[in-house]
Amino acid sequence: MSLQNLTIATRKRYDRIAPLYDLMEALVERRRFRAWRERLWSQVHPGHILEVGVGTGKNMPYYPKGAQVTAIDLSERMLERARQRAQSLGLDVDLRLMDVQHLTFPDDTFDTAVATFVFCSVPDPILGLREVKRVVKPGGDIWLLEHVRVDKPVIGPLMDLLNPIFVRITGANINRRTVENVRRAGLEIVSVENLSDDLVKLIHARA
Ligand SMILES: C[S@@+](CC[C@H](N)C(=O)[O-])C[C@H]1O[C@@H](n2cnc3c(N)ncnc32)[C@H](O)[C@@H]1O
Repeated sequence: MSLQNLTIATRKRYDRIAPLYDLMEALVERRRFRAWRERLWSQVHPGHILEVGVGTGKNMPYYPKGAQVTAIDLSERMLERARQRAQSLGLDVDLRLMDVQHLTFPDDTFDTAVATFVFCSVPDPILGLREVKRVVKPGGDIWLLEHVRVDKPVIGPLMDLLNPIFVRITGANINRRTVENVRRAGLEIVSVENLSDDLVKLIHARA
């Protein structure tokens, strides 16, 4: 399938999932994700921040005070929910429908970029990460929270085998090598923290 068709399919999938997304993740959000989001955002400096793949706005409660946040997503339905969340939290967030693979911002626009559980579903993650590098000022921070392929015998190949089923149901690839992709996109890795064995990583990189 061409990149354009893959991107359309991703958008449709998230438009479809949007009404159920928060419910689908409620348990894991409470038990694990919430603490990981707090951990990530506690290290983000206020300034002009780009949130990529804002989804329903689950990171909004953790935005640093005084930050100017621009948040994008590929799915209008997910964005609608993010808009409602911003309103209920009284936050002024610049929300835009945009594909991270083709950002319309000029070079060096942002101080920092953040994405949580996004590059598992972007059709061409390296293209997306290169775009993030372009719009973040040189030396600016990029923070990613991502589940990745576990590079171990049996479990890695099993993740490869089951991946098409997961993509169909959840929109996410479970076998992405995101740390490697960050490097391949030309970003400098500052640190990689294992949050859940080898499955979930908190990646700090620089543009
Ligand atoms: C698994 S959800 C994560 C949402 C949110 N970041 C969170 O932590 O709950 C992935 C999100 O990435 C968005 N997304 C996928 N591909 C994208 C792309 N090419 N450009 C922008 N957003 C994209 C989806 O629409 C979806 O809202």
